[in-house]
Amino acid sequence: MYLSPETYYAIIVLCFDSQSIHGKLLNIMAGEDYIKIRINSIHQTIATTFDVFVQLNNRHVLYLRAGATLTKEKVEKFEKLNADVFYIKSDDRQNYKDYVHDCLNRGELKTKEKAIILKESTFSLVEELFETPDVQVAMNESRDVVNNIVDFLQTEDEAVTQMIGLSSHDFYTYNHSLDVSIYCVGLAQKLGYNDEKELQEIGMGGLLHDIGKRYVRTEVITKKGGLDEDEWEEMKQHPVFGLKVLSENANMTDNIKACCFEHHENFSGGGYPRDLTGQDIHPMARICAVADCYDALTTKRSYSEPMSPSAALSLMKDRLHKKFDPDFFKAMHEILFKMEL
Ligand SMILES: [Fe+2]
Ligand SMILES: [Fe+2]
Repeated sequence: MYLSPETYYAIIVLCFDSQSIHGKLLNIMAGEDYIKIRINSIHQTIATTFDVFVQLNNRHVLYLRAGATLTKEKVEKFEKLNADVFYIKSDDRQNYKDYVHDCLNRGELKTKEKAIILKESTFSLVEELFETPDVQVAMNESRDVVNNIVDFLQTEDEAVTQMIGLSSHDFYTYNHSLDVSIYCVGLAQKLGYNDEKELQEIGMGGLLHDIGKRYVRTEVITKKGGLDEDEWEEMKQHPVFGLKVLSENANMTDNIKACCFEHHENFSGGGYPRDLTGQDIHPMARICAVADCYDALTTKRSYSEPMSPSAALSLMKDRLHKKFDPDFFKAMHEILFKMEL
């Protein structure tokens, strides 16, 4: 029986979820299927429904049994272990997702506690977007991440402020992507977007805007200082590479693709890849451009210290303002400082 490439791919997607693929990688390393999690995604007063392991000498050792809570002693033990990554069995992936969902819906938890759980729980999946061989499966999984972000930002007052307050201080592409996604949803809400589907699309667009960087050489991505002409040309291809990979996934809408393809276009021209201007740039890409620049300026790189929010906004206003839609930039300022420009 002949199978077209599309059918063959669909069968692969149906047969293997991202964890089994990701798990296979860990399997080679550790002999069993485990998923990385961050311990701060577990709330100290809420018992887990899954075992949590720590990796010692290439073996997974039980750290917290299902049904147990993260006591003070456990936290101290974890500090002694000096571990920052923990593991759960891949079979428990859905239990972990349900646990996070339950925490986010608990009335007794403070908004800040929920913001921490949400952000820490999404970290591993976003990391997978840039590290697993099968980006398409990771992209499909990322919809759950964005759904949680949109729900949280819609239902909790002060949620945007709390999430922004947790901005990552180190620049890794996956931290950056998650932050840009959060900013995009917050900014879209501020601009009056209230359709759930559109908010999810802008959240996905922010999360995936730099997905094309997977196909730019690592030495170009991580190079300190300026890029030479060839390297810069390669870097400038990332929106094109991104559009290509998104177009291979039937779940990616035109709005999501526009965020990726047009986030380096400038409002007054001179951007790439098409040198569009003004209203010709998709509005979601204009939102993404503001969020992207702000996050890039306020996070730490290996070669520069982060700027404060006010310094970043001043620089954007004084020297970069032509890049952005003025109304969208004003809205970003209002979110961050809750005051008029
Ligand atoms: Fe980019
Ligand atoms: Fe970016």
